[in-house]
Amino acid sequence: MKLLVINGPNINMIGIREKSIYGDVSYEEIVSEIKTYAKSKNIEIKVKQSNHEGDLVTWIQDAYFKKYDGIIINPAAYTHTSIAIADAIKAISPIPVIEIHLSDISDREDFRKISYCAPYCIKQIKGFGYKGYLMAIDEFLSL
Ligand code: DQA
Repeated sequence: MKLLVINGPNINMIGIREKSIYGDVSYEEIVSEIKTYAKSKNIEIKVKQSNHEGDLVTWIQDAYFKKYDGIIINPAAYTHTSIAIADAIKAISPIPVIEIHLSDISDREDFRKISYCAPYCIKQIKGFGYKGYLMAIDEFLSL
């Protein structure tokens, strides 16, 4: 199985930003945890991060052309604003996409309760910190 992990803006600042919400595990450590876990499950995985909306759209499209089996995406703030990312997820259907958030977006400001992506994802995992990425891998294994 081949999975692509896509992280949106400011996820590279995890471990530095708002530690009371996102924890103090660094982005680099999270990437390493994801890669180690995927390897232990015999999954080929690529982990990417960008602060630019268009990069996320391009990488979602790439997953289709490069024949990935699924995408794990934390669109970060673009979750709540980006129709372009939602359209890209819709465009590559039936490649399954799981949306993940480190924090519980349903228990924060009202604007975070809206996800333009969620309707086109097979699942949304939120509030489990970086473990959410590992849970998403398990979810793909169980499909
Ligand atoms: C986040 C939640 C978003 O609302 C926020 O803009 C982020 C991170 C999360 O992982 O909890 O940057 O996606």
